[in-house]
Amino acid sequence: MPAKILIVDDDPNVQRLLTYTVRQEGYEVITANDGAEAFRTWSAEHPDLVLLDVMLPKLDGYQVATKIRAEEGGGHVPIIMLTAEKEVEQKVRGLRAGADDYLVKPFHPQELLARIKSLLVRFAPKDVQVGRPPLGRVLAFYGAKGGVGTTTIAINAAIALHRELGRRVALVDGNLQFGDHRVFLDLGLDRKSIVDVVSAPSIDVDLLKHVLVRHDSGVDLLLAPPSPETAELVTQDDLPQILEQLRTLYDYVLIDIDKRLDEVNLRVLDTADMIFVVMTADLSCLKNVRLVLETISHLGYEQEKVRLVLNRSNAFTGINVKNAEGALKRTIEHQIVNEYRGAISALNSGAPFMFTKADSLLGRSLLDFTRSIDKQMPPSLTVRPRFATAGR
Ligand SMILES: Nc1ncnc2c1ncn2[C@@H]1O[C@H](COP(=O)(O)OP(=O)(O)OP(=O)(O)O)[C@@H](O)[C@H]1O
Ligand SMILES: [Mg+2]
Repeated sequence: MPAKILIVDDDPNVQRLLTYTVRQEGYEVITANDGAEAFRTWSAEHPDLVLLDVMLPKLDGYQVATKIRAEEGGGHVPIIMLTAEKEVEQKVRGLRAGADDYLVKPFHPQELLARIKSLLVRFAPKDVQVGRPPLGRVLAFYGAKGGVGTTTIAINAAIALHRELGRRVALVDGNLQFGDHRVFLDLGLDRKSIVDVVSAPSIDVDLLKHVLVRHDSGVDLLLAPPSPETAELVTQDDLPQILEQLRTLYDYVLIDIDKRLDEVNLRVLDTADMIFVVMTADLSCLKNVRLVLETISHLGYEQEKVRLVLNRSNAFTGINVKNAEGALKRTIEHQIVNEYRGAISALNSGAPFMFTKADSLLGRSLLDFTRSIDKQMPPSLTVRPRFATAGR
């Protein structure tokens, strides 16, 4: 049976053109002329994909997408937003409203068909859907500044979630150029890395299982490229795809990313269920946190998606937690204690403290942190109506 596509556009000429293009490719087409009709047709006809113009009478495209997402329960119909607006903010708004992709008019018919095809593959219902285990959560660890302890926290949180809380955990080194999980975990350059994933013709769970490196703690690692120049092999589409696949296998997928707010990292932040912004209490870091929070708020994420983690919280810097919260005008949700010797000797010996010294001050502090994460989002409650992506 051909896929059924709902085309929503109030301009009859555009609607005709889109219908022609899509039918030529063998899809079944249904149409709607305004937002209200689009929503009614979607609920009556259950199309496999929606092409949705933004500027529509009655309800605009954003409102239609939001209404569909609110109503669809366990399903997920792919939505491509057709927009005349080029601004990033508009695109972001479209995606936030629940669109899976967008195209800026005018676009080439072949481009439209390619996007349709890829979304249909990505969201194709699979038989195994019924009774499928819940998907894991993606947690992004983002350092507001270099050297604040992002990697230390991501690695030790991963180990705590697995060893202390019994969760299945994957840890991705998303610091593509200078990832240092190999150093922290005493692994050589000969181990497989994300480069082995992105150079394969398609990304699937079998490939990932083959490339992941099991650390002695039981955490599965996706390592960064062995050298900075191979980092550029990883495109902005790769990490989201990898994370979506990994969350079908693990309760938690943690990713450690550097402070660049480039397209690659933004796509990771988009995919993440929760973003932990790691910081220390000094002025330049506070300035960065403020900028990051502003940028993140432009992206339209829900408030609860972003958490602040104050590392080395009891170190003397002249700025205490209250001052820092005052300067940022928001709460700092998590704190990790300062224990330089414990942290640096773990780093230099390649044995994370959560693995060898879980009972240390630092270990206990990290465990408190991971407990609070796990309490807020127990994996058993995280059933989400999404499908694993296939192919690239
Ligand atoms: N809670 C802590 N107490 C004391 N020292 C810490 C703590 N956390 C991290 N450190 C130390 O801070 C230094 C930087 O840590 P780490 O490499 O984890 O930071 P990062 O933010 O990932 O840095 P980069 O920007 O290089 O990726 C290391 O020497 C580490 O041992
Ligand atoms: Mg780091």
